[in-house]
Amino acid sequence: MISRRVLCAAFGLAMLGAGAAAAETVRVGIIGPFSGPFALQGKNFQAGIEAYRALNGKSVGGNEVEIIYRDLPTANPQQARAIAQELVVKDKVQYLGGVYFTPDALAITPILTQANVPLVIFNAATSAIMEQSPLVVRTSFTLWQTVTPLGKAAIERGIRKVITVVSDYGPGVDAENAFKKAFPAAGGTVVESIRMPMQTNDFSPILQRVKDSGADAVFAFLPSGPPTLGFVKAYNDNGLKAAGIKFLASGDLTQESDLPALGDGALGLVTSYHYAVSHDSPENKIFVEAARKAIGNPAELSFPAIGAYDGMFVISKMIEATGGKQDAAKAVEAVKGLAWISPRGPVSIDPKTRHVTQTIYLREVAKDASGQYINKEIESFPGQTDPGLVK
Ligand code: PHB
Repeated sequence: MISRRVLCAAFGLAMLGAGAAAAETVRVGIIGPFSGPFALQGKNFQAGIEAYRALNGKSVGGNEVEIIYRDLPTANPQQARAIAQELVVKDKVQYLGGVYFTPDALAITPILTQANVPLVIFNAATSAIMEQSPLVVRTSFTLWQTVTPLGKAAIERGIRKVITVVSDYGPGVDAENAFKKAFPAAGGTVVESIRMPMQTNDFSPILQRVKDSGADAVFAFLPSGPPTLGFVKAYNDNGLKAAGIKFLASGDLTQESDLPALGDGALGLVTSYHYAVSHDSPENKIFVEAARKAIGNPAELSFPAIGAYDGMFVISKMIEATGGKQDAAKAVEAVKGLAWISPRGPVSIDPKTRHVTQTIYLREVAKDASGQYINKEIESFPGQTDPGLVK
């Protein structure tokens, strides 16, 4: 009698002989801040990836997918390129993903074509990154995308004069430019613009300038993590809220993981963004449950997890389209125009820019029925492409 195992083996050989591809292990290199001051952001990359794998399995079309994590604690372009090169050459990854900071993404893009590897960006949010390589796809957001709807929203809130305060690097400059275009277009005036070095951690002198400017509101961007927590705390501690100076920002400044530390002082802060953990949809319920399980402490879940989760979906579609074989151009081509329902809402990959088209939500920090601080969605702007990439 022939055993089942022999039969199976014989069947497998016959399949191979008939031309079926042997299963490959596809390696994916993920670069992010897994230690240091921004470790919580990297932890959210990992939670998004693990949630995706828990819900969809660890293989695609019979090919096992192996994730290799590499730590890049802060923006460091030289180190970013070295890590990416090592992942490609030594670890033989077929895909690169992650990347929290813009300068790191810009340092990695020049190696992609020669390496024959696509980069799926889970966060870095400066518009121009997409123009550096045809092999980049992005599942996060841009500051142009999130900030543009704020111009009109500010006018609707009776705000007429705004001072802008941003971190002086790619996404900060984009945020400033987007606000300076959208707000005057809606009838407002930008009275002053301040750019701070990325490393700034004493915000009192800047907030004094905000007070002295005579503006009705401050518009701000800093990269999410310790800088945003420090800035919003300083906005309260320096009496700006008490003085009636309103606050407008991209949702980077009110990420959910910061809200408990900000407490009631954050209530009423108005932001616009692509994702709120409290977004009410069946897809988001499933995602949040899986991502909270992956991250361990539910209060730590924040927006980088959604970029990572959808990024893994995109990488899976690329693996499917290439049958596990390394072909970066074919992989990227396969996801141009891809549309799906993300936990954040309906999204697609713009075939022209390779950046994610999505709904941007206007939100206000509030308490839900159980007393948890949330970014409560109050208005939505569907189908937003990246205005920063329109030429
Ligand atoms: C970026 O460097 O592109 C970046 C980092 C953190 C954010 C947004 C953008 O919250």
